[in-house]
Amino acid sequence: MRITSRRAIVPLLMVGGLLAAACGSSSSSSTTTTAASGGSSGGATVSVSTFTKDFTTMADLKSVTAAGKGKVAVILPDTVSSARYTEFDAPYLTKAFAAAGLSTSDTIIQNAQGSDSTQLTDAQSDITSGATVLVVDPLDAGVGNSIESYAKSHGVPVIDYDRLVLGGSRKYYVSFDNVKVGTLIGKGMVACVAAWKVPSPKLAVMVGSPTDNNATLFAQGYNAVLNPLIAAGTYKVLARPAGTWDPPTALTEFQQAYTANPTMNGVLVPNDENAAPIISYLKTLNIPAKKFPVTGQDATLIGIQNIISGYQCGTAYKPIYLEAQAAAALALYLRAGKTPPAGLVNGTVKDTTANVNVPSSLLIPEWVTPATVESTVVADGFVPASQICTGAYAADCTTYGIH
Ligand code: GAL
Repeated sequence: MRITSRRAIVPLLMVGGLLAAACGSSSSSSTTTTAASGGSSGGATVSVSTFTKDFTTMADLKSVTAAGKGKVAVILPDTVSSARYTEFDAPYLTKAFAAAGLSTSDTIIQNAQGSDSTQLTDAQSDITSGATVLVVDPLDAGVGNSIESYAKSHGVPVIDYDRLVLGGSRKYYVSFDNVKVGTLIGKGMVACVAAWKVPSPKLAVMVGSPTDNNATLFAQGYNAVLNPLIAAGTYKVLARPAGTWDPPTALTEFQQAYTANPTMNGVLVPNDENAAPIISYLKTLNIPAKKFPVTGQDATLIGIQNIISGYQCGTAYKPIYLEAQAAAALALYLRAGKTPPAGLVNGTVKDTTANVNVPSSLLIPEWVTPATVESTVVADGFVPASQICTGAYAADCTTYGIH
């Protein structure tokens, strides 16, 4: 069984029904494999390891698309918590469905702009206008459950996209291994502390929104990295703010923590958008580059620029074009009433509220540092060098061979 990223094959070992990545980090959320039942005509070659940045695999699904009916509606959460939904998810999902032969008239891609009521009314109107499958990245478990209950009552299957709706009734879940994302962030902080020679790290450890299950899983990953260091007395955690995906709120949380703990010399931040205002604030205090470690996630443009200029240690890069293709493929199988191939549904993730193992497509994230920007996000066409290397960042691009 393999789940691969484009740069490394990560053979996965079955260990007592749990998947443990051969590289030693087991996915702490209880993932076990599930063998998809029944055959699937068309696209049988499609699996999480066949998707590439040029979307060629999606053409294998044209017969599945032809066998289906109705619209596929995707509802993304917002445009503030992360630039990813505008920069990456929406364009990649659009491209994936088109490459699989779904007509634009049968493809709906919406963004709820941070409003629970909008996300629910979008789902309801999509079903009214003929959606036979919903792909939802829920703002929170509450609206996620409302959408899934409504969809179920109308016989419309739902795919949880990127965030799992705890207590929900979705058919499939598509995401990255989010505990692994957290592990990368934790290990990225530790590597940065060493590289930047931070004498005795005294950190704030921040979290995302408490209503986002991913935030819980990210924290599970990075706390598992930090806790032994804290127990050994090597690291100190001076503050653990409440948590948010709202960048201005994240800034306020950090400012309050830093003011109350002036010996603080680093902050673990779970995504690029929350890190950006914190880095801008540190600059107003004349804190120089490579002095105060900050972490991130999503490999957004602002995150990459903060990384190459020495204010952010790195970012957990999630090649969204993999997640978008996996979600689109699963949606098209559901729309055709067909069972997806086993390679596409390559694991399960436990919904700890509903106490069920959810059949899932789980993809592999990777940690990006200044030295690997060119070979990852630029090589993938994820963030073009032309956008990164503007103004003062041009010199940083020269330093790190980004072009
Ligand atoms: C998470 C998502 C991350 C991060 C955050 C803010 O659920 O997996 O990519 O950006 O939300 O939207």
